[in-house]
Amino acid sequence: METKIKEIEARALADIEQATDLKSLEAVKNEYLSRNSEFTNLKKGMKDLSPEQKPVIGALINRVSTTLNDLIEQKKDIFYKKELNEKLLKEKIDVTLDGDYVPIGHVHPLTQTVNEIVEIFQNLGFSLAEPKYSPEVELEKYNFDLLNVPKEHPARDVQDTFYCDNMPSVVLRSQTSNAQARTMMNTKPPIKIISPGRVFRNENISARKNNLFHQIEGLYVDKNVTIAQLKGVLNEFIRLYFGSSRPTRYRSSFFPFTEPSVEIDVQCIMCQGKGCSVCSGTGWLEILGAGMVDPNVLEGVGIDPSVYSGFAFGMGVERLTMLKYAIDDIRLFFNNDTRFLKQF
Ligand code: PHE
Repeated sequence: METKIKEIEARALADIEQATDLKSLEAVKNEYLSRNSEFTNLKKGMKDLSPEQKPVIGALINRVSTTLNDLIEQKKDIFYKKELNEKLLKEKIDVTLDGDYVPIGHVHPLTQTVNEIVEIFQNLGFSLAEPKYSPEVELEKYNFDLLNVPKEHPARDVQDTFYCDNMPSVVLRSQTSNAQARTMMNTKPPIKIISPGRVFRNENISARKNNLFHQIEGLYVDKNVTIAQLKGVLNEFIRLYFGSSRPTRYRSSFFPFTEPSVEIDVQCIMCQGKGCSVCSGTGWLEILGAGMVDPNVLEGVGIDPSVYSGFAFGMGVERLTMLKYAIDDIRLFFNNDTRFLKQF
């Protein structure tokens, strides 16, 4: 038995010696030390040995098994480290290589204008209207009726406003003034809101007009609100948006929901007031509609016009952006041509 054990040991040592990687080492371990190996089976023969031989052979088996185990573990460790190193070397990252170019987009010029204008008004004490009071798909009631727009007003015509065929009272809002109506219906004065958003009009698309554009509406309702405050707020806005040296003028105008109403012009930024094709020779560019909230509107939304007054204003975001950057075609904002968008 002793010779048999030594013979197995010699064979195992040779096999261990020859193993070249973790896999072959595992195979050697399996062959000599697993439960069904020849060597393990030899141990079962121990019970037939004489009492003198038992401790001798037992000690021999233990020594051989420890030796083989240790050797295999040692070699395993070496192979493991070697293989790990090779793998790491193969997967080494060259940090000096150029990375993949991932172009980073930026905020659309119209959104930049909205952000800038909203920030100006926030600094003047206005807060953003709640989006739930500013839906793009709207009932005629909030887009027109509550804003004192009479049934026969041309703006209500299908030539001007998009209606829903199967729901006659539903429109795509033609102005952000619906946020005025809804906010006043649902909150109590003082109200001081600014409400940017998309509006839709049934226009023939051209360099000046698109059937989708953006407006920003403002509303201030409180006790003793006067037209002097309207002028103060809007002059300050124009000063901050266009720069302090830009002259403005107020022209009387008409909107169904304000009385009196004004339109505000700034001096043409192209010709400095001399008159050019952009300002149709007038030297002025219209940028804002505004006025004191009509008492009928206040009454319609349940605010007592003998106690409260207010002013409202509305402006076109595309127009203000075009004027600031001398852009001559509104369609550029919607074409998504990066050669245009990259310039902002
Ligand atoms: N809603 C008006 C428009 O679309 C602008 C406006 C708003 C005028 C508020 C006065 C007050 O032309």
